[in-house]
Amino acid sequence: MALRKLEEIPVTGKRVFIRADLNVPIRDGKITDTTRIDEALPAMKWVIANGGHPVIASHLGRPKGKPSAALTLRPVAEYLADVLHVKVALAEDCVGEKTLAQTRALGPREALLLENLRFHAGEEANDPGFARQLAALADVYVNDAFGTAHRAHASTVGMVPLVAARAIGPLMQREIENLSPLLGTPARPFVIVLGGAKVADKIGFVRHLLTRIDALLVGGAMAYTFLRAQGVEVGDSLVVPTELDLAHEMLDSAATRGVALLLPSDHVAVQQIAPEAPSRITAPGVPAGWKGVDIGPATIRRFADKIVHAKTIFWNGPLGIFETKPFDRGTMAIATEIARSGAFSVVGGGDSAAAVLQSGHAEEISHISTGGGAALEFLEGRQLPGIAALEA
Ligand code: 3PG
Repeated sequence: MALRKLEEIPVTGKRVFIRADLNVPIRDGKITDTTRIDEALPAMKWVIANGGHPVIASHLGRPKGKPSAALTLRPVAEYLADVLHVKVALAEDCVGEKTLAQTRALGPREALLLENLRFHAGEEANDPGFARQLAALADVYVNDAFGTAHRAHASTVGMVPLVAARAIGPLMQREIENLSPLLGTPARPFVIVLGGAKVADKIGFVRHLLTRIDALLVGGAMAYTFLRAQGVEVGDSLVVPTELDLAHEMLDSAATRGVALLLPSDHVAVQQIAPEAPSRITAPGVPAGWKGVDIGPATIRRFADKIVHAKTIFWNGPLGIFETKPFDRGTMAIATEIARSGAFSVVGGGDSAAAVLQSGHAEEISHISTGGGAALEFLEGRQLPGIAALEA
């Protein structure tokens, strides 16, 4: 069944429950990256502009079913009030009589943000009673939380059939439209750039896309697991011994399919990880007592040579410890190459999205996904529960 879009549903005078993913980084009560909220604004603005009453819901962090002062959505409520230019109240609890009354009392240009859904164990357990309580707050249900679409929770699955009208939001729609081409017949050459620490998190989507891709460029900490698997000296670099088999599997299947799998051939290595720590370029591996923290200049050139000819690129995971300068050079260089390539480029995952923003090239990337795990599961070809629930 085709998904209904928010614009296709009458919202005037209705309480519109918007499940958004407002799971943003907050330090000392301040939001340090508002991207996810900013991307979620169009649905809220549309509902307000059309005379509906937004009842906005999200999780924040992993409070494990108990209230936690550190994980309140209050900073998000304050930010929303600033950017939406409407009154945004924060409901003390996401369910209950008082909250229900607050949804019913919403006037024009007023929105209600529910407190963190995960303060109740019923959210992650997809508890039917909790789902009923959430559904009571809504006349219309909108799922715009792509970043949480891979979770079968009460607010993404359980409550959905209990609300008469339901739709996907514009952010969810944009994500599906931009990620789907990678699963179809993407323009070739199709290059995947892979970084980050864990092979296990990425193997699923690489396996699924392997018949469609031409090159796999592997950097970041996971490259050392691959290099160790090939018998290259990696010194004190991070290696996940339990993932050596997965690395072998990826190396073998790439070779069988004729996919070029490029690993770093030189490295920026340090003895201690600290900003501006003394470093040296090592090749082809990393000697004992040193750890690789970034790809080296020759590797940047080899990777760039693949990127420049690509017509489709998907990037997930930083290529070094980009949050510690100057070990962001490799990641910044690759972000710049991807932006300049002219290819249809998609970036998925919080760290890579942050790296693209840091590089100043976000505008030149075709699509920056707000989903980390959700984007990867989507690219594994799996049906995400949050989307499937809307199709039912
Ligand atoms: C995310 O940050 O990837 C989403 O908000 C989902 O969060 P979760 O991994 O805690 O379910």
